[in-house]
Amino acid sequence: MVTKRPVLVGVVVASALALAACGGARSEGTATASGGAQKYTIKFSHVVAPSAPKGKAALKFKELAESKSGGRLEVQVFSNSELYGDKDEFQALQSNSAQMLAPSTAKFTTVAPEVQVLDLPFLFDKPEDIAKIAAPETKVGKAIFDNQKLAAKNMKPLGLWDAGLKHLSSNKPMKSPADLAGLKMRIQPSDVLKVQFQTWKANPTPMAFSEVYNAMQQGVVDGGENPWSNIESQKMHTVQKHITESGHGYLGYILVINNTFYNGLPDDLKKVVTDAAKESGDYNRQVAEEVNQESKKKIQAAGTTTIYTPTDAERKALKDAVVPAVWNQFKDLIGAEIIDELLKAQAS
Ligand code: SIN
Repeated sequence: MVTKRPVLVGVVVASALALAACGGARSEGTATASGGAQKYTIKFSHVVAPSAPKGKAALKFKELAESKSGGRLEVQVFSNSELYGDKDEFQALQSNSAQMLAPSTAKFTTVAPEVQVLDLPFLFDKPEDIAKIAAPETKVGKAIFDNQKLAAKNMKPLGLWDAGLKHLSSNKPMKSPADLAGLKMRIQPSDVLKVQFQTWKANPTPMAFSEVYNAMQQGVVDGGENPWSNIESQKMHTVQKHITESGHGYLGYILVINNTFYNGLPDDLKKVVTDAAKESGDYNRQVAEEVNQESKKKIQAAGTTTIYTPTDAERKALKDAVVPAVWNQFKDLIGAEIIDELLKAQAS
């Protein structure tokens, strides 16, 4: 099949040219005079498709921030790693080349490792559990919203956005932990995810999101894990013969803004940003599951992939292999108290 990457490269080149055409002289994210009123530009960079739950929420944030500010805020959204990808987006945020990002919690591993609490396998059984367990006032929520390491790195968290629950994909059927043994599985760069797949005796291979489709197509990896929306919008299902609807882990994002940029905004625009973040977060949670189910239907209709829904016993066997074994290995990093509390909640 024709790969979709050339299209993406075209987008990247086009974007680079468009930026070059702007002269590159305008310092994005800083105030510019416009008819007497100060105007501020936010570059919001992310790595997924505009149709994915994060992509939709980013566009909603743009719509809300621009309208609530009466045009004093301009939000430029860059999707599909077209401006910055997994490898350079944090640096872009810190240098104020981008002002907002929404990386997955797994991508914060080196920045604030304790937010990997949300990567723990089988933390949630169903999407409805997410809002409860990760609410800002819970221990999990505090690990994100009161995180001193994020503050020290000049990042202000504005929200937790969902992609949804991840499922396993590969070119062979996967019903039990034994089926995963030896498979080379692409992971996000997270220690929790590495240990999860090692415990299943698979070979975890960290890789940037933008490289996953080609790696699957060329057999560099056997499979991976992602929610329906990412699998479908990145066309991974066209290069993966099997998906097991395991729902074995959560994929969620911390919406962050460069704190220096934020503090430089007038108070009314700070409120616009936080209100738009809150409302786009509510919107994200409303649509995420619906978007995932739509993507699942598109994958079914494409007919390229066999979708297997594990029985309760099969899902339990996958879970028992990693819970609490994987969780217990992260007590030092994430905090013994929080892990014990989460384990207790699982038992109840
Ligand atoms: C994302 O949803 O932002 C990327 C997920 C991944 O890297 O698998």
